[in-house]
Amino acid sequence: MKAVNINYKPAGQFEDTRFEKIHNVIFENSDEGSICIAKEIADLIKRKQKKNKLCILGLATGSSPIRVYEELVRMHKEDGLSFSNVVSFNLDEYYTMETESIHSYHYFMYQHLFNHIDIKPENVNIPDGTVSSEELHQYCIDYDLKINEYGGLDFQLLGIGRTGHIGFNEPGSHYNSGTRSITLDPVTRADAASSFLGIENVPKKAITMGIGTVRKAKRIVLLGWGANKSAILKETIEGEISSEVPATYLQEHKNTTFVINEEASEELTRFKTPWLVGPCLWDDELIGKAIVWLCETTRKSILRLTEKDYNDNGMSNLLAERGSAYDLNIKMFNQLQHTITGWPGGKPNADDSSRPERAKPDKKRVIIFSPHPDDDVISMGGTFDRLVEQGHDVHVVYQTSGNIAVSDHEALKFAEVLKDLNPDDANADAIIESINTKTTAYEDDINVRKLKGIIRRRESLAATRFVGLLDKNIHFLELPFYETGTVKKNPIGQIDIDIVANKIEEIKPHQIYAAGDLADPHGTHKVCLDAIFAALENLKHNDYMDDCWVWLYRGAWHEWDIHQIEMAVPMSPDQVLKKRKAIFYHQSQKDGVMFQGNDTREFWVRAEDRNNDTARKYHALGLSDYAALEAFKRYFF
Ligand code: F6R
Repeated sequence: MKAVNINYKPAGQFEDTRFEKIHNVIFENSDEGSICIAKEIADLIKRKQKKNKLCILGLATGSSPIRVYEELVRMHKEDGLSFSNVVSFNLDEYYTMETESIHSYHYFMYQHLFNHIDIKPENVNIPDGTVSSEELHQYCIDYDLKINEYGGLDFQLLGIGRTGHIGFNEPGSHYNSGTRSITLDPVTRADAASSFLGIENVPKKAITMGIGTVRKAKRIVLLGWGANKSAILKETIEGEISSEVPATYLQEHKNTTFVINEEASEELTRFKTPWLVGPCLWDDELIGKAIVWLCETTRKSILRLTEKDYNDNGMSNLLAERGSAYDLNIKMFNQLQHTITGWPGGKPNADDSSRPERAKPDKKRVIIFSPHPDDDVISMGGTFDRLVEQGHDVHVVYQTSGNIAVSDHEALKFAEVLKDLNPDDANADAIIESINTKTTAYEDDINVRKLKGIIRRRESLAATRFVGLLDKNIHFLELPFYETGTVKKNPIGQIDIDIVANKIEEIKPHQIYAAGDLADPHGTHKVCLDAIFAALENLKHNDYMDDCWVWLYRGAWHEWDIHQIEMAVPMSPDQVLKKRKAIFYHQSQKDGVMFQGNDTREFWVRAEDRNNDTARKYHALGLSDYAALEAFKRYFF
């Protein structure tokens, strides 16, 4: 756990938080943070119970509070925590929205909390998305009045949107705003698009508790998890108060804590550029990070940095500790240069003392783990190509079927082809019928799921054949955690870990490549990586594992920071085009995919932009000018 300052410590009063205007607590992971906040809520409820008082809670929906609610439910079931004295007011609801809809916040709250605890039904208040437009104005006034009648909120739980909204108070919201209807920001609608299966299905409006209402709460806790939130959290915590980022209004609330995890805290000055905050404990990683930053800030390459550059930019104690700028520059330059190799599987018969990979054995057995059926070519298509070309025994292991990401119209097209080929094909009839009569966009019947999985499997085989692999080297694990038929997946199970471990055992690889990307919209990459890490843990006592090196690539959403890269594989312009073509074989994932995330570029464009960008950064630091670079970081188990 990093910097868990649970005791209240006003932000900005200590050196390390001097840029911060909101008290925040950082947990290593969202689980620990959620449990801590659930405990705070439970303690408050119990304190009120002892005094025979009601406890007035303001509640949020979205992904951020789910684990808090899970823990509260657990406390109710296992520890006897009662909610009989709780009155709840939810922050918001889409407008218009049927109460029973699976998209409604009403549904969400019952699903995650109210159905499992003993809160009195009459004590639950959630803005009603069915109120007529004529009644809406008065309805909102009454919502605020009701909160006031209870004496205001004792505790308000919040999440934060990438626009800086709290509740649905989008940019432009007034400091004193009350409960009202609001038009949703396009960014907010884009973020909700995947759960609505397309932005066009996301309501344009919502009812939200106002900033003024939220601010009156006696205690406010805002939850922020993941790298997606890091930029807006920095703006909120360190920026000026502004209606453009409504969450900044919380800077003036005296009893607010932001509870965030490490990834969400990454952009805070004390972590991003700690040398600007105070003296640092310099290790190699921090030195690398600082020098890359110094080059970007001064627009110089590494070997041009001077002592003055270091001194002028908060890094004088690094010089004092580690010697001259000359020494630091040379060391960093060499370190980066040694990450570059055109031989990702090691260069046979070469001195490998300063290469990222071992020379021996000449021909390695390699597993490329791909969480979805296209991450292999998107994230490391160039390296994959080189490994095959250089004669290694490359196996691609697809961890999930990826079936939910195939749209209905894509599946229908294939079912109709089947039907055209054989008009009596009962299977095709069943699939066509099932798609055409589907009522909920969420659940596919088993045949449709199967077809969607086959479409992705065939696309993968076409792409890997194009790279030059035989079908026998392609493995489809279809891990069970993924096969729920819905966007929501099961947690990782022993069976998933065993399936992955068995495959590693069967191939006995010298190299494993895995997606170390933790930012995909549905968390699938994270679960797939957890399954690999757990499998490695189980297998590491076997002799053959002593020879196994693990390299992590990043998925379609993020790239390693330059100072983190331990192997950089260059690509020529022709190799870039070849990679593009391999990605094109994944046709169901082209042209406006189902789960686009908040980046509207197609996957091949994202991959090229990212690889070009890494190459451009290396060049700017003074290294060779490549068309593109794929980046990897080694994982030690
Ligand atoms: C939900 C709400 C919103 C969310 C915010 C973050 O009731 O009021 O402000 O808290 O959009 O959503 P997640 O948690 O899904 O990232």
